[in-house]
This record gives sequence, C-alpha cells and structure tokens, in this order.
Amino acid sequence: MNLKTLADVNIEGKIVVVRADYNVPLKDEKIIEDTRIVASLPTIKKLLEMGAKRIHLLTHLGRPKGIAEPSLSTIAIAKRLGQLLDMEVEHRSDFTPSEAKIQLHENTRFWPGEKKNNPAFVQELLNIGGEIFVMDAFGTAHRGHASVVGLARYMPAVAGLLVAQEVEAMSPYLTDEKQPGLTVMVGGAKLDTKIAVLEQFAKIADNILVGGALANTFLAAQGFDVGASFHQPDKLDTAMEIMGICDAHGCGFHVPVDVMCADSHDSDNPLDVPLEDVMGDMRIYDIGAHTIASFAEIIMHSKVLIWNGPMGMIEQKHFQKGTEMMAKAAAKTSAKTVLGGGDTLAALDMFNLPHDSYTHVSTGGGAMLELLEGKALPGLEILKI
Ligand code: ADP
Ligand code: 3PG
Ligand code: MG
Repeated sequence: MNLKTLADVNIEGKIVVVRADYNVPLKDEKIIEDTRIVASLPTIKKLLEMGAKRIHLLTHLGRPKGIAEPSLSTIAIAKRLGQLLDMEVEHRSDFTPSEAKIQLHENTRFWPGEKKNNPAFVQELLNIGGEIFVMDAFGTAHRGHASVVGLARYMPAVAGLLVAQEVEAMSPYLTDEKQPGLTVMVGGAKLDTKIAVLEQFAKIADNILVGGALANTFLAAQGFDVGASFHQPDKLDTAMEIMGICDAHGCGFHVPVDVMCADSHDSDNPLDVPLEDVMGDMRIYDIGAHTIASFAEIIMHSKVLIWNGPMGMIEQKHFQKGTEMMAKAAAKTSAKTVLGGGDTLAALDMFNLPHDSYTHVSTGGGAMLELLEGKALPGLEILKI
C-alpha cells in the first residue's frame, strides 16, 4: 500500500493538524494505559524537527454522543502528553488556534458533526488554520469521521510515522497468496467482528488457533455440548462456513481439546476438563493445559504469528492462564509476531510482558482487523498516492 508520508511535504513554517488516536482506557477519569499516547510521540517530535510552526492535535475519546461529557474531556491527555514530551501542551476547548507551539483540542465527538462527517463541522475544524493534515490515528482509520477524513479535501494529507509503521507491519499479509508458516490466533468473545478476518486467513494461513468464548461457537457448530457457556447459536452456519474454507485451502483449524470450566466466572474452584466432559450448567472460561501445550507448539514452529483476542476471561484471575501462556509463547518464538486489540494489549501489561518482546504491537483493534480482512479503510484511502 503506497501512502503519502511526511517525506512528501515541506513542514517548515507550516501549521500542521495531526489526527491522533488518544482513545485510551480511563478509570475514574484517570488514564490507566498510555500506549497510544506514547505511540504518537515520534510523529510530534519529527514535526518539530522538520520546523512546524504549530502542531494542532485532534482526537476522540470514548463514545460521547455529540455532546460534551466532562468525564471524557481531553484535558487529562494534554497533561500526560505534556509530561511525556517535556513541553507545554495547551488544551483548547474548541477549534480556534492560539499561539502555543503544541495544542490539543477537545474531544471531537463532543460535536454531532464528527461521526457524520458533516461539512459544517469540517468547516469548524478548518478554523484552526491548518496547512497540512497528518493522519496518525491508526486505531481510528476504519472510521470515516470528520476529523479523520474531512480535512484531506482542503490541504495536503499524509501519513504520520505511526500509521506508516502499522501499515508496513501488516502489508505482507494483505494478499490472497498462501503464506507458508503463517499462524493466526483469535480469541475474545464475539464472532461478529472477526468473521471477515477469519474468512480471509482461512485462505492464506497454515494454521488458525481459536480460543476465548469465540471458540465455543465453533465447538457448538462441530456438535460438542458447550453446557451453559457463552456462544452464538445464530452463528453456527458462519462457523461451519469458516471451517469449510480452511478445509478447501489446506489450513489447519484448531479448537480447544480441553477447557477450564466453572459454574460461574467468579467461582473459586474451576476444573480443567476434556471437551467431551462439558455439559449441563458448566461454563467454559479458558483453554485447558493440553490446548495450551498444543497451541504453544504450533506457535513455536511458525514463521509468523498474528494474534487478536484473549484465550479466556482474563478479567478473572482463575481464567488468565491460557492467555498468559500464549503471550509468553509469542514472546519466545522466533516467528515474527504481530498482535493487537485493546484486551490483548491489556493482557501483556497484566503479565508484565514488554511490547518489545514482539515484532509489532498494533495500536489498532477494529482498525487492525479491518485492514487485515482486506477492507478499504477511509482514513488510509485519503493518503493513497
Ligand atoms: P480485543 O479487545 O483484544 O480485541 P475482544 O474484545 O475481542 O479482544 O475480547 C475480549 C473479551 O473476551 C474479554 O472481555 C474476555 O473476558 C472475553 N472472553 C474471552 N474468553 C471468554 C470466555 N471463555 N467466556 C467469556 N468471555 C470471554
Ligand atoms: C478504538 O479504540 O478502537 C478506536 O479508537 C476507535 O474507537 P471507536 O470504536 O469508538 O470508533
Ligand atoms: Mg476488546
């Protein structure tokens, strides 16, 4: 994918508008995880180095519905960003400029025109006086919102360093050609957002490993009793279809052979049982020891591992093992490792696994999946040469 980059524009003396993705997890209005803020620093520093006159940062935060919600203000982000840059970052409550070198504007989703990509709201964003638009919000590239795509009609639009790096890391897998040695591991709860990516990788991967509640839907489709486990009975045909594509393309499709079960997620005595023993009111919350061993073995022998979604209900201490062991196998294997997803990244933190143990840790969840499934992302389309 050929995108316009910072190398294609003259930044010297220019007012630059940067769309970042500072949609970070908050608890009691405090930032609990700042990967996305840290990931934006190289572009900001590069723009300063290139002589930008001023840098105006735009982001959304959470999902306010077109009105101001004080708990979702970007004020806390301006503060954290200032600390990380060791520079003053001025917080602006609207889209008017001041003289400050670096300015972070208020949550774009406080305005109803943002999600609708409303021309009147784009005009408001133009009040900043931007001369160059830098799209660096990889995590939001799948949203055709005003602050993501709207300014590109009015000024040169280029990819920031983060977007360029993310796209480069995923580019080799945007193909319909079989990729020998490629393993794709998918977990999480719902099949919906992962169907298209599974259909795509069923054609080109060597192995697909499925865990999490997602696996329950495949197990039910194969005729196993999943007891009272969360699964999607309306998606059994979809699950069958994905397994059919794997068969037709020589891709191994691996579901758990044993599982951690309990009658409730807060149970204190879960059991690791063979799949055949699941019944009645038993609920599957994690993959079992034999599955951990066989998935880890496949990861060790892969050339590339792409991973999205935890293997179990990681919010509960008894159901973290599967995800922890997969994260450790991914850190240890000599395979290239590309992973993403909000809960997947949270798991790395939970087990103290540094991001540099992996080839590429994506800042995108939905955006990563949509890119890998071969969809055109609005935020990248505007950057194409
Ligand atoms: P990511 O954010 O990394 O893309 P998802 O949002 O798709 O991941 O999935 C994460 C969620 O899946 C977590 O909240 C986790 O509790 C849930 N989950 C995983 N396995 C199970 C399970 N067996 N039963 C219930 N929930 C599960
Ligand atoms: C994300 O966290 O996936 C992005 O910031 C996009 O957020 P959204 O799903 O609320 O559009
Ligand atoms: Mg999630």
